[in-house]
Order: sequence, then structure tokens, then C-alpha cells
Amino acid sequence: MTVNQFIKRAEKYNLPISQVYDLIAFMLNIDYSEAKYACDKEIDNEVADNVLCQLENKEPCAYITGRREFYGREFTVNHNTLIPRVETEILVEEVIKRYRNTENIELIDICSGSGAIGLTLMQELNISFLTLLDIDKKALEVSKQNAEKFNIIKNIEFVCSDILNYTSEKKYDIVVCNPPYIAENEYAGLQEEVKKEPYHALVAEDNGLIFYKKILSNFEILCKSNGVIFFEIGAYQACSVLDYAAACSLYAECVKDYSGNDRVIIVKNSKRGI
Ligand SMILES: C[S@@+](CC[C@H](N)C(=O)[O-])C[C@H]1O[C@@H](n2cnc3c(N)ncnc32)[C@H](O)[C@@H]1O
Repeated sequence: MTVNQFIKRAEKYNLPISQVYDLIAFMLNIDYSEAKYACDKEIDNEVADNVLCQLENKEPCAYITGRREFYGREFTVNHNTLIPRVETEILVEEVIKRYRNTENIELIDICSGSGAIGLTLMQELNISFLTLLDIDKKALEVSKQNAEKFNIIKNIEFVCSDILNYTSEKKYDIVVCNPPYIAENEYAGLQEEVKKEPYHALVAEDNGLIFYKKILSNFEILCKSNGVIFFEIGAYQACSVLDYAAACSLYAECVKDYSGNDRVIIVKNSKRGI
């Protein structure tokens, strides 16, 4: 079938146009930038039918193509990793804004998944040491593949561990963390496409708050004296996380995303500006 015929048949899945072009680029094995100009090209019928069948089964595009763009770079993803979200770029931007002129940063990305946050910051900032930590060995393998692809494998350690039972031997300048934060009782209401992502990458106990509480309780263990934590949060979690930070005698502020939702919480142990 032609690309135009594929676009017509894919219409019913209401995909963002960027994802349609990514599928076309994937099927034709061409660059994303060329996909827009490939309307009359012929896609092998078997390949196109296979992709349409996966869409029918609610398979996310990123799992079909095995990739997702994040902050201008292409990350490898698979069923073991969460698909990086565009909202998470806000967290990355908040870190970059504050640290673009800082040297020799030591950073840990907790719940690192594909490595989207940590590996992006490794390329945008002057980071001398990066730890990527995830409970899922297979997700960690994907982050390693990404680090190799970007040619930045040096000075990165990959730690397979449960952060809820982890005692860091090292203190960091920056902690970034996009943990699972969906409450157990919200899972049933998620879109079928989202449910294709690993359950343990999405859902967290204690109403989605367990990771924030654990990491905030361990602030002194994880952070250097001027260390800062950057969390991504769900749209309705800001109050709970800010309250918990205050209960730990920490100072926290919230940053909204471009849709006006609370999205990032920044935590430090003094009122000084960063
Ligand atoms: C929401 S995903 C975030 C992935 C990535 N940071 C991103 O933003 O695309 C959460 C990640 O936390 C990991 N995870 C879940 N429970 C964990 C635990 N107890 N300790 C460490 N990592 C955990 C999952 O394997 C998953 O990769």
C-alpha cells in the first residue's frame, strides 16, 4: 500500500501526526525528516498490515518502532522501559537552567528507565559522574544501550537496585527522579496503550507517594550539603509532596508544565536560591 493509503487507514487510531510519520519512517527505513515527503512511496503490504494490526491491539507507536525522541535525541525503548514523555522535558529544563554554568556535577537518576533524563543531562551539562538506578535489570540494559549509542558510556555507573531498600554510599549534587506515581486504584482507568507499559514503571503504593516519601526521608544520605532533588510528580500530587518535604524540614517549590499542571518539585535543605 502507499504511504497515503497507510495514513488513511491509521486515521482511526487518532495518533499525533509526529507518531504517524515516525511509523512511516520506520516502515520505509528512512529518516523522520524524509517521511513527510514520502506520500506516494510504496510500503510493503505485509509490513504495513503488521503495524496496523499492532495499532489495533493498542500497541504504543514507540514499542512498534523501538524508539522515542526525548529532548531532541532518539532513545531506544522496549517493553521493559516506560516510554519517555514530553512533560518530563520540563524537569530536564529546570535542571539545565540552574546548572548550565556548573562544573564537575555528580548526578543520580533514580528510577532511570531508558535513561532519558540522566543521559540527556549528561550531554547537556558538565557532569563528571552519573549513576543510573533502576530496579529492572532489563530497563537498565536499555539505558546502557542508549549510553553506548550516544557514546557517553564513560563515567556512568548502572545500579540495579530497589530504591526503597537502598543506602547510597555516595552523595550527589543533583538527584533527578521520575518515579512510578500512579495510585493503585487509578490503574484500571488508564488508557489501554498506557497499560502496555510495565506496571511497576507506572504504579506506586501509598496513593502513588511512596517513592517521594522514601527519597525525601533519605535527603541527607543522597545529597551533598548543597544538593538538590528534582522530582517529576503527577498533576494532583504537589500538595502532598510539598507537605512531606516541609515535614522533613526541607524547602521545596513546584514548577508547572506547559499545560498548567503541577509537574516538577525542586527540593533543597536551605532557603538559599539555586
Ligand atoms: C515512571 S518510570 C521513569 C523512567 C524514566 N526515568 C523516564 O522518565 O522515562 C519509573 C521507573 O522506575 C523503576 N522502578 C520501579 N520501582 C522501583 C524501585 N523500587 N526502585 C528503583 N526503580 C524502580 C521502573 O522500573 C521504571 O523504569
